[in-house]
Amino acid sequence: MRKPEKHLLVIFGASGDLTYRKLVPSVFDLFTQNLLPDEFGILGLGRTELSNAAFREKMSEGIEKFAMTKPHNRAHLEQFLDKLFYYAFSTKEESEYLPLKLELEKLNQQLKTENNYIFYLATPPSMYPIVPAHLAKHGLNNEDDGFKRLIVEKPFGYDLESAQSLNKSLLHGFREEQIYRIDHYLGKETVQNLLVTRFSNGIFEPLWNRNFIHHVEITSSEDIGVGSRGGYYEGSGALRDMVQNHLLLLASLVAMEPPALINADSMRNEIVKVLQSLRPIQKEEVEKFVLRGQYTSSEIKGKRRKAYREEEGVNPKSRTETFLAMKFYIDNWRWAGVPFYIRTGKQLPTRVTEIVIHFNATPHHLFAGDKAIMRQQNQLVIRIQPDEGILMKFGMKVPGAGFHVQDVNMDFHYSELNNTYLPSAYERLLLDCMLGDATLYSRGDAVEAAWRFVDPILKAWKEQPCIKVHGYPAGTWGPEESDQLIEGVETWRYPCKNLSGDGEYCEL
Ligand code: BG6
Repeated sequence: MRKPEKHLLVIFGASGDLTYRKLVPSVFDLFTQNLLPDEFGILGLGRTELSNAAFREKMSEGIEKFAMTKPHNRAHLEQFLDKLFYYAFSTKEESEYLPLKLELEKLNQQLKTENNYIFYLATPPSMYPIVPAHLAKHGLNNEDDGFKRLIVEKPFGYDLESAQSLNKSLLHGFREEQIYRIDHYLGKETVQNLLVTRFSNGIFEPLWNRNFIHHVEITSSEDIGVGSRGGYYEGSGALRDMVQNHLLLLASLVAMEPPALINADSMRNEIVKVLQSLRPIQKEEVEKFVLRGQYTSSEIKGKRRKAYREEEGVNPKSRTETFLAMKFYIDNWRWAGVPFYIRTGKQLPTRVTEIVIHFNATPHHLFAGDKAIMRQQNQLVIRIQPDEGILMKFGMKVPGAGFHVQDVNMDFHYSELNNTYLPSAYERLLLDCMLGDATLYSRGDAVEAAWRFVDPILKAWKEQPCIKVHGYPAGTWGPEESDQLIEGVETWRYPCKNLSGDGEYCEL
């Protein structure tokens, strides 16, 4: 495995949760696997005054709790912590960027990182245009003496206009090749496996089109509410939080043409083509194609679950959607006429993300059973999480007299692979950026294309408050009305934690 060049990772917003839970633990995982260069360091920047020692202590706590690889011993951990530094910094203050530049130069000399920097924006989104502009003003975008890369966290914009304006401001100081927009779904091993399943198996590709696929269903459910993130979620909702980025990306990977090569340009060219082929949902059609819901209070196993409107930081009259079900089409040769269904929500019965490819029924039904039953027998379930794996459902003869058909499962679970380490999404993505590989990062035009599709829905909700927000009791599969969206096809699949346990009792 190629190691990245020597460099310094500079995290803006280092006193926040993301650094503590994801970023530093993931870099530690890279360190444990010997995937970091010897000349490497992390400089955390945050408003809180912290000494290097206090920062290291806090990060060591994060590592113990959240790293995939636990420290072998204190010496191993200390060796990593020695690479961590902290500098109190107010991101907004222009006057602080010159002293920051000097601090970077000092550290760069001390660690011999040869002017290679990765700047990670883990700040509130309002800072995204500001930091790169100031960095550029001080020449910290200039790659003459070493690489300068910029990682931008989600949310990437709030709507099409803000995403376009953010892209514009980033591109003012940095080139597209220097910008790494994170969508952590692409960092998931099982999401990447979707590409391998499709493009390394001769058996699937010939069937992967409108002639053989009846519809595609993507579910991403969570069994928790918004918790302490009510303030952020109020201004976001499921459409912005999950659909515009993660779920449209999953749909793109299902639908894309084989790229010429697995590299940043080829892959992202194909993804953007899918996003540009999404049939627009006009404002007047929103009620027909999109259904939104919000969880209400309920009691499960004797325990009361809060309504969304009772969550901290949420307006008691909020109309923010915590559930969304949507039907859409991709207008291109491969997918013409094939409906795609997406469903996502908080406070649903279980945490599951999966893609279900429903194949067409056989043209003539020799054996008992109606069309809907025949169709159910031909599903390919790609499980992103948990119980990661793949399940193929098909019909088999029930032994004995007559010809009775029964559904059986052929399944593969990642857990069956011995000694296989599944890296976390952030670990994979951080390593890729360190290596200068943007294949698994979103390109500006793709982000804008996704917003272009989502924008009329947001506008319709804003302009037509009469479009209903359906209530659903916390712990259920969302508003009953979502069944109407998929009616005529059959019903949604109701997945369990356990990939092959569908149709069985599902633990709430
Ligand atoms: C984040 C959203 O991007 O993705 C969260 O902001 C959501 O609201 C999370 O919970 C889901 O990610 P994962 O990896 O747990 O499926």
